[in-house]
Amino acid sequence: SKDQYILGIETSCDETAVAIIKNGTEIISNVVASQIESHKRFGGVVPEIASRHHVEQFTIVLEEAMTNAKLTFAEIDAIAVTKGPGLVGALLIGVNAAKALAFAHQIPLIGVHHIAGHIYANRLLKEFKFPVLSLVVSGGHTELVLMKEHGHFEVIGETLDDAAGEAYDKVARTLKMPYPGGPHIDRLAHQGNPSIDLPRAWMEGTYHFSFSGLKSAVINTLHNADQKGISIDPKDLAASFQQSVIEVLVTKTERAAKEYNVQQVLLAGGVAANKGLRKALEETFTNEKEIELVIPPLSLCTDNAAMIAAAGSILFEKGVRGKLDMNAYPGLEL
Ligand code: KG4
Ligand code: ZN
Repeated sequence: SKDQYILGIETSCDETAVAIIKNGTEIISNVVASQIESHKRFGGVVPEIASRHHVEQFTIVLEEAMTNAKLTFAEIDAIAVTKGPGLVGALLIGVNAAKALAFAHQIPLIGVHHIAGHIYANRLLKEFKFPVLSLVVSGGHTELVLMKEHGHFEVIGETLDDAAGEAYDKVARTLKMPYPGGPHIDRLAHQGNPSIDLPRAWMEGTYHFSFSGLKSAVINTLHNADQKGISIDPKDLAASFQQSVIEVLVTKTERAAKEYNVQQVLLAGGVAANKGLRKALEETFTNEKEIELVIPPLSLCTDNAAMIAAAGSILFEKGVRGKLDMNAYPGLEL
């Protein structure tokens, strides 16, 4: 039978990305233009600047993705685009571009949830074996998602305040490190000792998370030391913060994996790039012979369009089709 080619588009935050995948699992081309340098001096993503960058970069990124793939639009089966959640102005650039391409080339259009994309990044590595549990940790989300079949998501727990990545970025900011702070804290943590006592929000009896108390504890620790004239080693503070985050994430993931008898545990989202988290999950699940742990390479953890195409491929097979009046949905539920 004929091969299936899906073109994916992602513009929900500060990455302009276009990718083409074959038969749902094979990356043919995967181009990402990052805007991080433009947002750094503001200490975070500035929505209007993000939109303007997407407008500038989109066609260039698309051209590179098509050239790398050596394909024409006549060979593309569907266009999958992130329709939410994210920054509305940023999402609209991708959605409108996708609609224009779908209309001009008479190709089916498919709207994809950004978090479904992060989860489906894993299918570019391993076929799913249900039930599947995903630990989704990004700048905007922290949740445990159970799947019993393709395209069906049950959020069994989520953060009640800050997302894990958000906590990383805020702690990094307090330590005067550049945006995004996650990778910097990660690096620092490996040079320090987790010797500072910081809280863990267990949210007993639930699979929910909370990271704002931990973030405040880090800020207070620095503030108190400052007032007393004591110096705190940022390496130790980073190590202690990281240990607290990882302990809660890994403990809850393991507990949920056992309760729901899952066959696979997937790691997803930008914070999945965290070396400490990857190592802790690997150590935990090597002893669980019935549960397979899948962790994507760093390039598929942070925002990209191959993951959007991968999620779109499943929707395409299910017959899901977007209409030309598709909008962007900044608060879209999974
Ligand atoms: O998924 P993503 O690229 O964008 C969102 O959809 O939010 O995630 C970005 C988040 C940022 O908060 C960034 O600091 C965090 O992922 N991050 C990390 C690491 N690399 C990226 N957090 C901790 N450790 C890392 N190595
Ligand atoms: Zn993301």
